Amino acid sequence: MRFSTAVPILVAISAPPAVGQLNSYAKKAGLKYFGAATDSPGQRERAGLETAYPQYDAILQDTDEFGQTTPTNGQKWLFTEPERGVFNFTEGDIVASIAAENDQLLRCHTLVWHSQLAPWVEEGVWTPEELRLIIIEHITQLMGHYKGQCYAWDVVNEALNEDGTYRESVFYNVLGEEFIKLAFSTAAEIDPSAKLYYNDYNLESPGAKSEGAIRIVKLLQEAGIRIDGVGMQAHLVASRAPTLDQQTAVMESYGALGVEVALTELDVRVEMPINETSMAWQSEVYKNVRVLVSS
Ligand SMILES: *[C@@H]1O[C@H](CO)[C@@H](O)[C@H](O)[C@H]1NC(C)=O
Ligand SMILES: *[C@@H]1O[C@H](CO)[C@@H](O)[C@H](O)[C@H]1NC(C)=O
Repeated sequence: MRFSTAVPILVAISAPPAVGQLNSYAKKAGLKYFGAATDSPGQRERAGLETAYPQYDAILQDTDEFGQTTPTNGQKWLFTEPERGVFNFTEGDIVASIAAENDQLLRCHTLVWHSQLAPWVEEGVWTPEELRLIIIEHITQLMGHYKGQCYAWDVVNEALNEDGTYRESVFYNVLGEEFIKLAFSTAAEIDPSAKLYYNDYNLESPGAKSEGAIRIVKLLQEAGIRIDGVGMQAHLVASRAPTLDQQTAVMESYGALGVEVALTELDVRVEMPINETSMAWQSEVYKNVRVLVSS
């Protein structure tokens, strides 16, 4: 992706620090947190640059702005189990330690996902029994390492196609929807204190895909397996985002199943070059995006 000059300019401004106080306002509105994902500390550390982005770090760690953080990449399979049975928590630990030092909630991401998956899993030819053992071992080691530190885990990420059917990942192709039940039941055993989420994009309005997410919640509940939340990634587009009414309706349909909802990866894309109209659209979309507060 090409970045417009607007992005570095925002980072480079040296005069007063940002004073949005997003987390403070979110809490005043009755929400649990406003958070931000990050990779920067890991990249900085790898590059041996201790203070490459001091202003970025200061904002990230300001709990008036962000009461929660997530490792953007560091807990994904590709980085945590790059070879079978070889676990590496270096990147994830950096972000987890930032959360702990600043008393921020840690949202952990993700246990079973077809993308950024280690090639040995994706390219292997597995019997159902072998793949079950691989999933169980991965969740046991990864979630066990962070046990007690995660407010929530995205247990299964992006298992659905746009039409609400299951995506043909290695997990689905070998195990069918059983892989979802296996992932959640294993996760429930390993860290009873973490909220267990199904997380996906384009779940922000009623339709075939959100019905697929509802089907997953019911599949687990009917099997007696714990699921606590639906994560709506909320990668929105300024010119065609769901309306406030659509978002409210879909959140109520998840809430009716007794699960909580979170907007997990919120961003609002605009076409380049930007203009006043597209900025106004973007602002309107951000304004309309909010999580319902249940009493
Ligand atoms: C673990 O991951 C870190 C960060 O990506 C990397 O620098 C390190 O070499 C890895 N350790 C091993 C043993 O591969
Ligand atoms: C502004 O940008 C949007 C696309 O984001 C485009 O549809 C619109 O025509 C543009 N308006 C002007 C006045 O250029």
